[in-house]
Amino acid sequence: MSRLKSMRSLLPFCAVLVLVGANACGKGKEASSGMGADEQVVEIPFRATVGDEDFDCNKTFTLGSDNTQVQPKDFRYFVSNIKFVKADGTKETLKLEQDGKWQTGNVALLDYATTDSNCAKSSSPDAETRKVVRGVIKRGEYTGMEFALGLDDITNHLDAATAQPPLNNPGMWWSWKGGYKELRLELTVLSDGSAKNKDYLVHHGATNCSGTSPETYACTHENNALITLKGDPLSSGVKFDVAKFFEGEKLQEELTQNLSTTKQLGVVSSPTSWGCMAFANDGDCEILFANLGLTFKDAVGGITPSQKPFSLYSNSGTTQASDPSNIKTDGTTCTDAKKVATGDNCFVRNTALNVNLEVGDANHASGASGFPSHNAGLTCVSCHQSKGPGKGLHTFSGTVYKADQATPAAGAIVKIFNEKPPTSGSDTRVPVKQFVTDKSGNFYTTTDYLAQLTNANKEYWVTVTDADGSGAKSMGSSKVTGQCSQCHVGGQRIWINK
Ligand code: HEC
Ligand code: HEC
Repeated sequence: MSRLKSMRSLLPFCAVLVLVGANACGKGKEASSGMGADEQVVEIPFRATVGDEDFDCNKTFTLGSDNTQVQPKDFRYFVSNIKFVKADGTKETLKLEQDGKWQTGNVALLDYATTDSNCAKSSSPDAETRKVVRGVIKRGEYTGMEFALGLDDITNHLDAATAQPPLNNPGMWWSWKGGYKELRLELTVLSDGSAKNKDYLVHHGATNCSGTSPETYACTHENNALITLKGDPLSSGVKFDVAKFFEGEKLQEELTQNLSTTKQLGVVSSPTSWGCMAFANDGDCEILFANLGLTFKDAVGGITPSQKPFSLYSNSGTTQASDPSNIKTDGTTCTDAKKVATGDNCFVRNTALNVNLEVGDANHASGASGFPSHNAGLTCVSCHQSKGPGKGLHTFSGTVYKADQATPAAGAIVKIFNEKPPTSGSDTRVPVKQFVTDKSGNFYTTTDYLAQLTNANKEYWVTVTDADGSGAKSMGSSKVTGQCSQCHVGGQRIWINK
């Protein structure tokens, strides 16, 4: 659906900043923190290759032990906490340039997807690619480099609707609970066979997350790989070789095997998602995880994890001459301005706001009967989240409109299902939860109904209807986050056919 492809979180983000009284949409120039002569600027190239060739959506490549021919569609990943390592084992932290776009705090996004039709980038902050990390490091002699592939636990559960760029990249977000897709690599299979023209998706991230609010989410499998590389980072670039990532993997195998409850290498749990989505039982994950140096939760065994795709390569241009004091690196300090900026990691939320609320309940000041809540059509979770000022941490919220997509639909029903609709016959599914919209057309809850889903991916299907069950509209795809208003913003309404 191309209308929704242009969805951006920018609009509600600006609105929020204005409402909470921050100076403007976008960040004003801040004075750079003074830096000593013992520091230097580095721009480290991060190359993505397949063997020796640069990753490119307009090329085809052969990957895996079954020599599958593929064409790339997407490749982005987060790195964080980059350190340069000295011969004696001591480490210096690379202070990242806070550029308001690709790097924030200690997190940097690398992005190799273009807008070429093969890449079809749809949900990045913009069409540009990003193939470097920039920052300031203490002068010295270094013999190695280390960084985390992914995000630390706290950053991982920020809300993508309001977090600072690049953490607001919706293409890299799953849900508060699961957090971000820390690595996203998507390919189309070209080899003849049943996999032909199917997408092979790698969405790497945290799994087995539990908790009842964004503050308490914890994942037993954060799946963050610590990458340690040998070499002089001041004269090197970092290479990610996609061919090495797929070493030993049979890309087409899962399509030809029957699914069963028996764990088997190369067998996915869900026939709709080929590749590795990091979830339980996904056989493809075992090899891909092992190649990042990680043990997959449901590993069958017999593989010794060892990091393969990342390496340093010689690049004399890594160290820059420019004056470090011209580079703003103070983003990690929690200034007063950042403590009140909605969505910022430093935001200090009044815990008294963490009350249990649900549309239709009696906890509101105005009582239960049709309480008209505010801000219909806006992104509720811009504010109703752990880094925002809204009362109640929403797990599901949004606004339903009538067929004109302009009049809020009061009394409409939103049904959340654990199963997809039947392809034929009558629909006998019983909803896990149903909400009735208030006078503003809004629905919301702070209860974690996602936890009540029993399917392996904790995904849900949704249908909205009028009060009498007529005018049904269903979302064609399943989702794993209840933040309906994060996607359905601007002209992209949720509506009933009435
Ligand atoms: C710009 C920030 C912002 C947005 C966007 C926002 N809210 Fe709020 N909301 C707040 C704040 C702040 C409060 C607390 C107001 C108070 O207690 O006086 C609040 C309070 C509420 C309350 C009242 C809770 C109670 O009983 O006291 C409800 C219900 C609510 N919001 C629902 C929503 C819904 C639904 C949406 C989206 C359609 C939404 N909000 C969007 C900031 C926001
Ligand atoms: C991650 C983004 C995302 C989230 C979260 C999301 N949606 Fe959607 N929704 C979409 C997209 C994209 C489409 C269009 C493609 C499709 O139907 O799958 C859509 C389509 C729909 C449609 C059909 C619209 C039409 O014009 O036919 C309905 C109804 C709907 N969503 C309701 C909801 C509700 C209710 C929620 C929350 C419980 C929700 N959506 C959460 C992205 C999202």
